Amino acid sequence: MVEGKRKVILDVDTGTDDATAIILAALAPKIELLGITTVWGNLPLSVTTEQTLMITELMKKDIPVYVGCPGPIARGLYPQAHKEHRRVAVDAKGKEYGYHDLFQLPRPSAQAQRRHGVDYIVETCRTSREKITLVAAGPLTNIGMALRIAPDIVKNIREVVVMGGGITQSNSTLCAEGNIFRDPEAAEILLKSGAPATFITLDATHRAALPVEYVDRCRGLGNPVGDFFAEILRQRIRVYNALQPLWRGDIAPIHDALCVAYLLDPAVIPDMRRVHLNVCLDHGNGAGAFLIDTRYYHLKENANVAYDGSWERFGEVVMDTLEKAEGLFWKGEEK
Ligand code: RIB
Ligand code: CA
Repeated sequence: MVEGKRKVILDVDTGTDDATAIILAALAPKIELLGITTVWGNLPLSVTTEQTLMITELMKKDIPVYVGCPGPIARGLYPQAHKEHRRVAVDAKGKEYGYHDLFQLPRPSAQAQRRHGVDYIVETCRTSREKITLVAAGPLTNIGMALRIAPDIVKNIREVVVMGGGITQSNSTLCAEGNIFRDPEAAEILLKSGAPATFITLDATHRAALPVEYVDRCRGLGNPVGDFFAEILRQRIRVYNALQPLWRGDIAPIHDALCVAYLLDPAVIPDMRRVHLNVCLDHGNGAGAFLIDTRYYHLKENANVAYDGSWERFGEVVMDTLEKAEGLFWKGEEK
C-alpha cells in the first residue's frame, strides 16, 4: 500500500459512466485503487466484467478485477435484466450499440481474479492497516452482502460513496434511480450498518452534467485515454439529447465519475446534507425511492446526501486528472 493516498475499492457495473469512474480512480494521484469488483446492474454480470477488463487493459494498468454478484440480494431479477445484452447506448431510432460498435475496444486478454468480489471486499477491509473507501457505482449488492457476512468490517470502512438515489430526479421508475431500484434491500443494509455513507444522487449528477465543450477539451489532451473519455461523453450527449433531455441541451451526466471526483474535491458537491435516509422496500410503484426524514423531530442522521452538483468544478477535476494520463498510463510507450 502507498502511504498518504486514499485506499479505494471501486464496485462497478461497467457501463460507460463506470468506465469514466475507473479512469479517474486509476489516474488520480490522491487515490490508491486497490481493486475493482464487478456487479450486475445495467447489464448482465458477464458483460460488466468483460467491459471492466477492457478498460483496465486500455489503461495498461494492472488493477485486479474481482467478479461479484449476478443479481439482487432479496428480489428476483426484473424481466429486462434476464436478457443477455450488450447495449450501452440507443439512438433516436431505437438502434442499439454495444462497446464494440461505439469504441472499437478489443476483447480483453486478461482474466478476472478467482476470488469472489464479496470475499475480496471483506478480506481487504479486515486486513488493511488503513481504512478503506468503497465507491459503489452499481447496485449495492456486493457491498450489502459484504456487510451482512462480515458486519465487523464497518470499523475499517472510511466511507462508502454511492452513486444512487434522487431527491427530485429519477430515471428507472417514476420515483427511483436505477442503482437503488435494482437492489433496495442492499441499500437498506448499508444504511443500517453504521458505515459512513454518502449518496451522490441524480440531483447532483444531472446538475454536474458536462457540456459538449469537454469533448474537444478531452481530445485536445492528445492521449488515448483522453480520446476514449471524449468519445464516451460525445455518445452520452447524443443519447441524452435524443432520449432524456436535461436542464439544458448538449450536456450529459457521467454519474459514476462524479463519485470519484467527490473524493478528489468535495466542492463538486456544493450542497451536501446530513439526513436520516431510508429506501422504500415495497414491491410496487415506490420500490427504491429515497425516503428522507424532513420532520423537525427527525430520526438520527445516517447518511450524507448530495442535493446539488457543480459541473464547473467537476469539469476541472476531470481535466486535471486526465492531464496526468500521459505520464501515468503511457509510460514507455510513445504516442
Ligand atoms: O442511474 C445511474 C446509474 O445506473 C449509474 O451508475 C449508471 O452507470 C448505471 O449503473
Ligand atoms: Ca454504474
